[in-house]
Amino acid sequence: MTLMISRMAARPFKLLSHLSSMHAPTPLLARQISMDAKGFASRLVSAGLLRNQGLIGGKWSDAYDGNTIKVHNPATGDVITTVPCMGLNETNDAISAAYNAFSSWSKVTAAERSKCLRKWYDLLISHKEELGQLITLEQGKPLQEAMGEVTYGAGFIEFFAEEAKRVYGDIIPSPLADRRMLVLKQPVGVVGAITPWNFPLAMITRKVGPALACGCTVVIKPSELTPLTALAAAELAVQAGIPPGVVNVVMGNASAIGDALLASPQVRKITFTGSTAVGKKLMAGAAGTVKKISLELGGNAPCIVFDDADLDVAVKGTLGAKFRNTGQTCVCANRIIVQEGIYEKFVDAFSKAVQKLQVGHGFSEGVVQGPLINEAAVQKVESFVKDATSKGAKVVLGAKRHSLGMTFYEPTVLSDVKSDMLIAREEVFGPVAPVLRFKTEDEALRMANDTNAGLAAYIFTNNVQRSWRVAEAEYGLVGVNEGLISTEVAPFGGVKQSGLGREGSKYGMDEYLEVKYVCLGNMSSN
Ligand code: SIN
Repeated sequence: MTLMISRMAARPFKLLSHLSSMHAPTPLLARQISMDAKGFASRLVSAGLLRNQGLIGGKWSDAYDGNTIKVHNPATGDVITTVPCMGLNETNDAISAAYNAFSSWSKVTAAERSKCLRKWYDLLISHKEELGQLITLEQGKPLQEAMGEVTYGAGFIEFFAEEAKRVYGDIIPSPLADRRMLVLKQPVGVVGAITPWNFPLAMITRKVGPALACGCTVVIKPSELTPLTALAAAELAVQAGIPPGVVNVVMGNASAIGDALLASPQVRKITFTGSTAVGKKLMAGAAGTVKKISLELGGNAPCIVFDDADLDVAVKGTLGAKFRNTGQTCVCANRIIVQEGIYEKFVDAFSKAVQKLQVGHGFSEGVVQGPLINEAAVQKVESFVKDATSKGAKVVLGAKRHSLGMTFYEPTVLSDVKSDMLIAREEVFGPVAPVLRFKTEDEALRMANDTNAGLAAYIFTNNVQRSWRVAEAEYGLVGVNEGLISTEVAPFGGVKQSGLGREGSKYGMDEYLEVKYVCLGNMSSN
């Protein structure tokens, strides 16, 4: 293991830059990998981290009707294990458990909550290797990147353990002499946290960390594709002494679980990371009981490279922004918009860098690009590429399934992409880099903003004034000369249809707090 894992988000960079050749494992090596995956699974069992039941009120539980769903390793198609296929009844019980636990957890001192979270963080870090293996096993990302996710994910718990002690209120100077006016911040209540498969740990900790720090309790619904990391994290929460009912995990029938969370008046907040389409449904569903809601939805990130950019910085930054997690993040560069003076040079240097990305099973040394999550994801990528090439885009590299089979797809570069192609309109969520061309800064800004999404944007330029001007585009996060910008200490979230609210940083606490005004009257002395 040669990569230093930094505190910034699951960083593929050093890996991306030190590779020298594409490398397809031989069938023998492929068999070896599947045996290794079995070895990793048995090590996880002995560490007590391969949990395959839900957690309700501190008790590990099967689905009440005994139904299960299979969890697959996307790299091999092997079934890792099964987990309960839960629905309405289990979710209602988890909500009741969280509701009952709220009355005590919200009254525990901030210092105590902070200690519990710190203990959880310590356990996550001390099991970094096993958790990384679990992420690779069920999600497919390369082990180094998976361990980077553990560092990133655990970072939210550490950060919010500290923030728990800083939930300050206010005193407002009263306009009337006999009154005193206070502002208190109080936990929202029970939180329903619905999380995606692309970051099986970090998207949970980014929500649960601040929720618990504020005194809320949670019902987590992880993705059915990657529930095992969530369950391992919940096991470590139990070991950290977080009381029963404070953290609950249910999984299985997504719509039944979602409906139960939305319908319950006891659930006061929904937090969701995932597709814009599902986010809109949740937002509409939350209206029935007027819940607070935060949504981290899809992006369509522009990555703008100006003629005055440092070519090496732009190539390295774009590589990280595009190919992190094999292109499966909401902040992945989706449109690489390059100025005409540097266009050919950029496409040439960028393609050479992309060609060096080693594709393979996440447990193989040197691999930086894993499989896509499932067959539907590959078919989506294929249809976007087909649409682009049928309308005139040129294939510079890739544009086909990888010879490894399964859901592996070749890192791809397309040039001469136009704004009206599907790949420039919607998130491809795969390892395809479409490169578009522009002439002027105004045109680049128009192209960048010509979308309903507004999550991340990237700019590569050496002109300070330009970087300020362009950073004001309609996006929630902007990387200037940097392609990897996610961290627990900074606010993460989108504008327009990319979502509501912010996660991470001190701003992430506000999402789980109600602001209360208390007026003390009759304060004149006798
Ligand atoms: C996401 O893809 O939703 C999260 C990416 C990140 O945290 O950087």
